[in-house]
Amino acid sequence: MDYLPQILSTGFSAMNTPCVRPRFASVLLWPLVFFLCGTVSHAADFQGSTHRLEFDAAPVLYSSAEATDPVGKISAKLRANRTTGWMPFHPDFGYLPAVLEMLNVPVSSQMLVFSKTSLQRHNISPTNPRALYFSDEIYIGFIPGAPEMEVASVDPDLGTVFYTVHQDKDEPVRFRRNNDCIQCHGAARSMGVPGFVLRSLETDVSGEILTATDTDEISHCTSIAQRWGGWYVTNAPSDWVHRGNSPGPTSEGIGSNRLHEIATSKLFPAAGSDTLALLLHDHQTHMHNYITRLHMEGQQRIAEYGHVRYLDNQIRAFLRYLLFTEEAPLPSPLTPSAEFVAAFQKNAKRDAKGRSLKDLDLNTRLFRYPCSFLLDSAAFRKLPTLVRNAVLVRLHAILTGTEEHSDFKRLIPDDAQAVLEILRETAPDLTVGW
Ligand code: HEC
Repeated sequence: MDYLPQILSTGFSAMNTPCVRPRFASVLLWPLVFFLCGTVSHAADFQGSTHRLEFDAAPVLYSSAEATDPVGKISAKLRANRTTGWMPFHPDFGYLPAVLEMLNVPVSSQMLVFSKTSLQRHNISPTNPRALYFSDEIYIGFIPGAPEMEVASVDPDLGTVFYTVHQDKDEPVRFRRNNDCIQCHGAARSMGVPGFVLRSLETDVSGEILTATDTDEISHCTSIAQRWGGWYVTNAPSDWVHRGNSPGPTSEGIGSNRLHEIATSKLFPAAGSDTLALLLHDHQTHMHNYITRLHMEGQQRIAEYGHVRYLDNQIRAFLRYLLFTEEAPLPSPLTPSAEFVAAFQKNAKRDAKGRSLKDLDLNTRLFRYPCSFLLDSAAFRKLPTLVRNAVLVRLHAILTGTEEHSDFKRLIPDDAQAVLEILRETAPDLTVGW
């Protein structure tokens, strides 16, 4: 674990806005950063959002509570029946194809990260990157040749639960719950709760982190120019400026030949590192963290005071993120991979006019309708009732224009009306009385 101190060193960890702040080495730069990013006004909105909550204590009891996330349920079945779990073991990818299929995670969501930023760092390099795949609730990490696959799955009570799958053809597939992962996945970078982490930084040619280049807590608010340092990005429009595809400080990027090589490489079951997948991943991982944070902080406040009035700022910050009020614009239109769009929208719920919160825009922004589809999720539904109701009452007021806070002025009335109508039809249990 020699790498942990370096990776865990978070420097400035306060993330007080729904969005991100770049991290620089010099304190002297901060006034400039605040000035350029305009985040000062939000700095107090959600004070302490990176503060680690005591999620192993009551009422959450993270490590000892039984998980009911989608992978946990499948895992319990596999354990109950000792004869199951023998699946085809692919000569190059091991259990990856079988696990993707079993968990219904699309292979077209493939993204490649070459920075040595995660657990099995010694197996990761620009020529042997880590592939990530995801669906609405499940995330899978695969590194060619590494002994373990890494899995994270959203639990409606526990936030995110982590598992490893041993890549050994002499063993059946077993999802082993692994609470060590929260060393990184349960700290400042994941809003202080068991959740997702994302980084954007420069590396040297071997994928090793170059310090002082980190941008913390990537989300849909992070400008495209700051995103994807340490990642491959294979189908972004050529005029997008971003930090991807640059292993090595002096490199101007890895060049189209090399990209083509990786995109068509036999190391992975899909080609490339999809731009739409990256954009969606940036949005939804942070959304999951927000829901978990509200959940756990809500439980604690209720246990302590019997009400959630002190969560006002958190709820407003949550709503800003939910409604994309500070989403970074796309520099120019993106043509996505049709296969991944189809996979992403397979479970989209549509209203009578055919509209869905999963409809994409991709001209200037990610989604056509500015409200996260993750509102309509098991995790949101399982928020403590007091918290969920407080969010829904405020949401209704914002969408109908009765709450006119300057935070929400970017939301245009036609979009607000469309979101209201879509939610009424597709999530009637959440919109009772709207
Ligand atoms: C040393 C810190 C560290 C540890 C420990 C760690 N991770 Fe991660 N993990 C990361 C980082 C950083 C990312 C973001 C992608 C990247 O840089 O590779 C990540 C990303 C992921 C993702 C993709 C979703 C996301 O959060 O962006 C999964 C799935 C994942 N890790 C699973 C695991 C599992 C399972 C374990 C424990 C067995 C684990 N990780 C332990 C640092 C860590």
